[in-house]
Amino acid sequence: MARARARTVYVCSACGAESPKWAGQCPECGAWNTLSEVTVQPATPARAGARAGFAGAAGQGGPVALAQVRGAEARRLPTGIEELDRVLGGGLVPGSVVLLGGDPGVGKSTLLLQAAAAVADRVGTLYVTGEESPEQVALRAARLGLAQAPVRLLAETAVERILAESERARPAVMVVDSVQTLWTELLQSAPGSVAQVRESAAQLTRFAKATGTTVLLVGHVTKEGTLAGPRVLEHMVDTVLYFEGDPGGRWRMVRAVKNRYGAVNELGVFAMTEQGLRPVGNPSAIFLSRHGAPVPGSVVMAALEGTRPLLVEVQALVDQSPLANPRRLAQGLDGGRLAMLLAVLHRHGGVAMLDQDVYVNVVGGVRVAETAADLPVLLAALSSLRGRSLPRGLVVFGEVGLAGEVRPVPGGEQRLREAARQGFAHAIVPRGNVPRGGVAGLELHVVTRLEEALRAAEALA
Ligand code: TYD
Ligand code: MG
Repeated sequence: MARARARTVYVCSACGAESPKWAGQCPECGAWNTLSEVTVQPATPARAGARAGFAGAAGQGGPVALAQVRGAEARRLPTGIEELDRVLGGGLVPGSVVLLGGDPGVGKSTLLLQAAAAVADRVGTLYVTGEESPEQVALRAARLGLAQAPVRLLAETAVERILAESERARPAVMVVDSVQTLWTELLQSAPGSVAQVRESAAQLTRFAKATGTTVLLVGHVTKEGTLAGPRVLEHMVDTVLYFEGDPGGRWRMVRAVKNRYGAVNELGVFAMTEQGLRPVGNPSAIFLSRHGAPVPGSVVMAALEGTRPLLVEVQALVDQSPLANPRRLAQGLDGGRLAMLLAVLHRHGGVAMLDQDVYVNVVGGVRVAETAADLPVLLAALSSLRGRSLPRGLVVFGEVGLAGEVRPVPGGEQRLREAARQGFAHAIVPRGNVPRGGVAGLELHVVTRLEEALRAAEALA
């Protein structure tokens, strides 16, 4: 039997795209110096045999009637950690692979140990630790008050041995912490390289599909993208969760960016406490810094994260720049969009910040990706430039277009109701977001153009 030859491809660590040739720049996403060599092993007869039981979701038998395929929905396993179940779409799905990415120290190991312990009474659970010793994991468990949870620990980084162990123990839920420590004997490259991470994850994924095991993978994200980031794995797994939040702060957010079994952009909110991560059931007002008196450059925005309204504070600092090219810096917001918004403000609002540095930040380490932040950002910047604060009870949202128009955003009524519930008295709102009959307790300042919004803010300041 002729043996297929190993094939070499180049994989981008930023977007996961494959190309047949090396290049300095990824042809797919345009990132520089992100392509690295990956050897793709053909399945040899021996290995194919060893994997016969691992045929995967695809390739098992002939066609079946759609109506006869039983959904995994009925067998979903809730962890009981409500905020985690919320982002998962209701719980763990058998045979699915979940990747939890995030900066070091954000709380990935803590969350997954808590999740493993939460289901361990009901199903077999294996926690594979490649980064920490079993003693360290046990110490954390003790700190979390979970020392007695029937979770099995395995300190191992070789995928083949992890799979052999889980073949024997047949856990329903397996945590692998972290995917960057894994290596497979099929490849020569070093653990942590793109090739190793990818092949190891692929083997775990096949195992999950074949056995119905839920596999939870921890992946570190590095800012530079030099290390094999979990980006390359996003295509492979069913669900990608990102853990966000300022590691020095109290709040942590888990966001689903991909989910074959639920909605994306759903947000789970936790507080990091002495006893681990505690779900925050009603996070709508936790990000508001309660200033003693109103300060210039601060605007409260009514955001909508997934299905939940969230009040967040957008801060801006606008200051005379010593540079020929003044700085524009956005934290928790899209930097490119900030530049665009400032151009709209110049052109349609008549306010120039060409000689000013502009810094914008969302308080509490929250990331706001929606365009509803446009108007709050501009009003915060203007407030800082003028040194005039906006009143305390004001809430703002709205998209700003290039023509200077203020556009409605989804879920207007929900945002306004939450603001009213939190005691806000004024709202600057796009016309298309005004609910019939208004909102009790909230005075609405309705705008269709940026100029009107600026005037409304001016009148309130
Ligand atoms: P960890 O889960 O180890 O982060 P990751 O796996 O993402 O690198 O948690 C890191 C931080 O969380 C660490 O600085 C200590 C803190 N922490 C608490 O504040 N309370 C706790 O109960 C635990 C277990 C950790
Ligand atoms: Mg960890």
